[in-house]
Amino acid sequence: MATLLQINTSLFSGHGQSSRLADEFVAAWQVKHPDGRVVVRDLSQEPVPHLDGARFMSFLAKPGERNAEQQAVVDYSDGLIEELKSADVVVLGLPMYNFGIPSTLKAYFDHIARAGVTFTYTDSGPVGLLSGKKVYVFAARGGRYAGTPKDTQTGYLRDFLHLIGVDDVEFVYAEGLNLGEEAKAAALADARLQLARLNG
Ligand SMILES: Cc1cc2nc3c(=O)[nH]c(=O)nc-3n(C[C@H](O)[C@H](O)[C@H](O)COP(=O)(O)O)c2cc1C
Repeated sequence: MATLLQINTSLFSGHGQSSRLADEFVAAWQVKHPDGRVVVRDLSQEPVPHLDGARFMSFLAKPGERNAEQQAVVDYSDGLIEELKSADVVVLGLPMYNFGIPSTLKAYFDHIARAGVTFTYTDSGPVGLLSGKKVYVFAARGGRYAGTPKDTQTGYLRDFLHLIGVDDVEFVYAEGLNLGEEAKAAALADARLQLARLNG
């Protein structure tokens, strides 16, 4: 049974354009995978805490040497990682906020990037441990950035996912959503076309 993990990161939860496109993709996926399991993580409704020094030191502490607080931090991070590990497909709703990824997503990434757990250091650099997944990203943006140096999200996301061993990543862009009603309608129609092709 295939498992799909949908991660919504819009400030507006399920109402964000990125979440709605992700929802449409997931609905089509479910038609193709009637026995498939869908898990939804909404980072706006349930934000992951910022990574601070104490939390990072908890990750570094050896299993037998953690105090109760540190163990709770590690258990929380382990839970996020287990959820991600068990997914064959990951669908990410990705708004652009202030020229970058939502801070909630950064906090989530900071809790799943764990040396020895999701990647390991080798002589030739880090090697990811979560291979074999397919990731679909639904990127919603007020302006237009794809293919330009101002697209701070695509390269960053590919680099981060590569760190944890995920290289099979497809992006669908809905751009120009704040450039007038006509541009918005055209962008969403185009994104839906791309989305349908991916579910083909
Ligand atoms: C706080 C905030 C910051 C934003 N910053 C940008 C930005 O830097 N560049 C951009 O193109 N659009 C920006 N936008 C517009 C969003 O990218 C656009 O509304 C998109 O639909 C957000 O995705 P969502 O609807 O899934 O939340 C911003 C919107 C908000 C609410």
